[in-house]
Amino acid sequence: MKIFMDTANVDEIREFADQGIVYGVTTNPTLIARSGRSQAEVIPEICKLIPGPVSAEVISTDCSGMVEEAKKLAAIAKNVVVKIPCITEGLKAVKILSGLGIATNVTLVFSLGQALLAARAGATYVSPFIGRLDDIGEDGVKLVADMVKVFRLYQLPTQIIAASIRNVDHVNRVMMTGADIATIPTKVLRELIHHELTDKGLARFLEDYRNSLKG
Ligand code: G3P
Repeated sequence: MKIFMDTANVDEIREFADQGIVYGVTTNPTLIARSGRSQAEVIPEICKLIPGPVSAEVISTDCSGMVEEAKKLAAIAKNVVVKIPCITEGLKAVKILSGLGIATNVTLVFSLGQALLAARAGATYVSPFIGRLDDIGEDGVKLVADMVKVFRLYQLPTQIIAASIRNVDHVNRVMMTGADIATIPTKVLRELIHHELTDKGLARFLEDYRNSLKG
């Protein structure tokens, strides 16, 4: 499972860029707004920091508007992936963009049926939102597991990005499904490295080392 960062905060991405663990980035209009900057400013900077796929979302809701926006976004850098909402007009746009060789990430996916349609329309990536499904009492990770099964069964090349991840447990459970990618908020990514026993164990090793010098 590849790791993407789910943020539009360039400083946070810079913090992780050198560690070699982050393969790509996903943004959305909420994350862009939270960054306090514009999409036009932020996306080129992210594309320079991270050579892998960087998702930038359209705000049009009609097919031709989405296609026009997508062309402009794709012209920013060759690693831009255009995020398209999973609505009828969106899937029409995905088909056109796939014909133009523009990579797409179908977002706001909440059901297996939506995922299949997105894949059949030619989406490069599809993003099930697991946290938001949990919020309404459903099992978001189960949707990802079902999608993995279906995509393998029908040999669909669309990659699955587990999105709307809220905690380390989500990451661990999504990993077990065989999802291609998890896009992880910075806070959760920071938590992922920590384990109480690692800290305790390291403190003990260092203490024993210091004691051994005293002879
Ligand atoms: O990748 C999608 C993500 O940004 C949405 O997360 O926590 O707003 O449901 P959340």
